[in-house]
Amino acid sequence: MTPRTLRAIPPAQADLALAALSDLRPHSPQTASPDALRAFLTQAEAEGYRLVGAFAPGQPEAVAVAGYRVMNLLYAGTVLYVDDLSTRPAARGQGHAAALLGWLEKEAGRLGCAALHLDSGVGEDRFTAHRQYLKAGLNITAHHFSKRLGHGEQR
Ligand SMILES: CC(C)(COP(=O)(O)OP(=O)(O)OC[C@H]1O[C@@H](n2cnc3c(N)ncnc32)[C@H](O)[C@@H]1OP(=O)(O)O)[C@@H](O)C(=O)NCCC(=O)NCCS
Repeated sequence: MTPRTLRAIPPAQADLALAALSDLRPHSPQTASPDALRAFLTQAEAEGYRLVGAFAPGQPEAVAVAGYRVMNLLYAGTVLYVDDLSTRPAARGQGHAAALLGWLEKEAGRLGCAALHLDSGVGEDRFTAHRQYLKAGLNITAHHFSKRLGHGEQR
């Protein structure tokens, strides 16, 4: 088994999550620098967003991260929603994301969540993630719709 430690990453340690998050969101201004990410995480934490990281022996930066929050939804009750899941390319295929998903499921139980939810893009770059989600027991339960409104920050 690949040795790893899973632990929370607070905003003050944004630099430890920067590489994995910028792999996942390379066009986000919030992943452009440690300071930008710290500012984002500080604000997002106030809105309930949390980060957990997987750490490999001898590597200070997280090799994989997951960002999540608790959401109360009329249609689903209290759920743990996963915003972000990313493993650094060199660390893929070693079970880090599976371990993070397992951790998130336990955390969901601890926080009284009835289910784990996430959205995932439909492009080829997400096929590995989709296989993983199905293997982890998640089902495809919705279509996600969005519309660009032409103002604010567009990605
Ligand atoms: C999707 C992603 C997070 C998976 O991360 P990962 O740490 O490589 O995931 P795991 O190692 O747990 O599982 C990946 C594969 O390795 C296999 N695996 C798991 N542990 C393993 C081990 N010890 N040895 C060999 N293979 C292993 C899994 O069975 C899985 O196989 P599959 O691709 O056939 O399903 C990663 O590929 C990634 O960051 N992709 C780009 C970003 C992305 O798509 N994020 C999700 C957004 S919704």
